[in-house]
Amino acid sequence: MAIRTGLIGYGRNGSTMHANPICELPEFEMVAVCDVDKAARDAAAARFGVPVYESYSQMLEKEDLDFVVVVTYNHQHASMAAECLEAGVDVLVTKPWAVNQAEAAKMIETAKKAKKLLLPWLPSRWGCQLAKLREVIAAGEIGKVYRVERRVTTFGRRADWQTRSDHAGGYLLNWGPHIVDQPVQLLGERVESVYARMSQVVNPGDVEDVFSAVLTLDGGETIQCDHIVASGDSPEWVVYGDRGTITVHNKTLEVHQVRFEENIDPSAYRSTVNKTVRTEEASGAVYGDEMEIYREIATALRRETVYPITLESGLYLTKLLDAIRLSAAEDVVVNVAVNGEPANSNG
Ligand SMILES: NC(=O)c1ccc[n+]([C@@H]2O[C@H](COP(=O)([O-])OP(=O)(O)OC[C@H]3O[C@@H](n4cnc5c(N)ncnc54)[C@H](O)[C@@H]3O)[C@@H](O)[C@H]2O)c1
Repeated sequence: MAIRTGLIGYGRNGSTMHANPICELPEFEMVAVCDVDKAARDAAAARFGVPVYESYSQMLEKEDLDFVVVVTYNHQHASMAAECLEAGVDVLVTKPWAVNQAEAAKMIETAKKAKKLLLPWLPSRWGCQLAKLREVIAAGEIGKVYRVERRVTTFGRRADWQTRSDHAGGYLLNWGPHIVDQPVQLLGERVESVYARMSQVVNPGDVEDVFSAVLTLDGGETIQCDHIVASGDSPEWVVYGDRGTITVHNKTLEVHQVRFEENIDPSAYRSTVNKTVRTEEASGAVYGDEMEIYREIATALRRETVYPITLESGLYLTKLLDAIRLSAAEDVVVNVAVNGEPANSNG
């Protein structure tokens, strides 16, 4: 039997990245759609021929649903998800699943009490750049990795709710679940401290459109992640190892490998290195393929497999984003404690 699905938020993302797999994959059946916007409701009704609702509470009350997908404004995600869980359905929440750790922890507690599945949507964990980097690094091609840079650049301005703090907008919550999460997944959830800067450069509103964070891991490795207002062609990733470097532009990885001379001549200024460069192509979607992810969601909802993103891992990312915000606001290095709130290292 198909998974009876309701969608809350039929906007730019809900109507595409989520509605497409729900209506195209046989594992799912779109049963109802909720949006406060009439034009969105009309579009969903015309596309699916299913009941549409202005109120999600009413949708939960009237429809017999197995699964609800939440794709509304950021500040609504955690409370909507909790209400769905309490109503006895499994829930997928788009990124960012919560505005802060307190919200995320409450939502997790609700899921545990309700004995329902709460699935964080972090599609970038399925991204093809990340997969290819994992492969090249695991093959030992650049030696031991000691630094990773991950950046997204754009001069595109926007003026919607993502520029407003009352909707929990801002590029840390918008882009952090992609570009903070991915390098942490590459090196491991081992962050000890965070130092960050945030600023508002070109967007209207009252939140940041630029952030820059340095994360230091327990082995001394560093991750630098940036969302920058810029034009030009800087690489999206640079991964530094003690035997080589990888740069990534879209799906092309440039793998630089070096071979040192056996013995270093102490009288020479520095040793010469033999360097080779080749390219590798990643295949797939840079930020994850929703069809592939939804197939995995279906087997998890049927309790045949375990969804690959644990609640603890979702909470860990939220903790890092909180630490970045705190560091930028207070101009301090934040120690990322194992449990609880990030501790201000100066406090
Ligand atoms: N790659 C990704 O995973 C990805 C990409 C884009 C957006 N997103 C996320 O998707 C979410 C939505 O972003 P978007 O760009 O689609 O925004 P959007 O403004 O286009 O869509 C949001 C929709 O939610 C509706 N809505 C608002 N309040 C509601 C309520 N109380 N009940 C029902 N519906 C309500 C709005 O009317 C709108 O149609 C954001 O949290 C964003 O971070 C994720």
